[in-house]
Amino acid sequence: MAHLYDLFDQKENISFFSHYASQVGEILDIGAGTGRIAIPIAELGVAVTCVEPSPAMRREFQQNLTQCHHLQDRITLLAGDARSFDAGRLFPTAFLSGSFDHFLDDDERRASLINIGRHLMPHGILVFDIFLGLMKDTQLSPAGIVQNGEREHRRFIASRSLPGEMQETRLVFETYLHGRLIERVEDRGLVGVLDRERLHSLLKETGYVRKAEFGDYDFSEFHEGDRLLIMEAEWLGEGLDGILPEEGNG
Ligand SMILES: C[S@@+](CC[C@H](N)C(=O)[O-])C[C@H]1O[C@@H](n2cnc3c(N)ncnc32)[C@H](O)[C@@H]1O
Repeated sequence: MAHLYDLFDQKENISFFSHYASQVGEILDIGAGTGRIAIPIAELGVAVTCVEPSPAMRREFQQNLTQCHHLQDRITLLAGDARSFDAGRLFPTAFLSGSFDHFLDDDERRASLINIGRHLMPHGILVFDIFLGLMKDTQLSPAGIVQNGEREHRRFIASRSLPGEMQETRLVFETYLHGRLIERVEDRGLVGVLDRERLHSLLKETGYVRKAEFGDYDFSEFHEGDRLLIMEAEWLGEGLDGILPEEGNG
């Protein structure tokens, strides 16, 4: 479904991430997808190193980049996973937009946070969003229609809980041309289920201190019960050798 991602993911968070990017000369964007955040950030004059594990998403990203030649020396796209990528250098700020939810258990979350920390300068900042708690189980139901020239794309979503604090999201995309169905794509993905307290302890264990928590991309305060949590955390460890502080202060 990578070729349909940009049509439907219209989250209004580019100015939120741009706020952080404009304070520094470069950004590490992990789980960068199609470059939805990285490309507008590079337009601000900021260098962006992107990590993306999915070959299909990287292909879409490269395709999007062909339309902006002027950004090609400002964007580096690496194949890799948050747990194990090695960009070989340090960054002042790292982003995970829509990617933290894909870490399926605490081992994966810890390994990813530590590996991201290895890439942060002392007191570097990690900014990420997550959805807290369980989504309700739902049957496949309509979740958006987008008109793109002569084509109409319809999206349907279903969600169900799985054992082991995971949820499966089933996405179906249908493309119609002049009212006739010409493509149907189905994708199943897993997300991990996490609560705020456990996120706090994971950050502390892996060497981060919490700087701010927002409930939306307009920097509004997080309130207990909100599903969206946006975290700004500071890395207290040391650079690429990944030395963790004796004890986190988070
Ligand atoms: C919802 S998309 C978000 C893409 C982009 N950051 C954005 O905001 O448009 C989540 C992305 O995270 C990537 N992802 C999933 N698991 C990952 C992992 N373990 N490490 C890094 N990226 C991951 C997916 O391939 C996908 O491109």
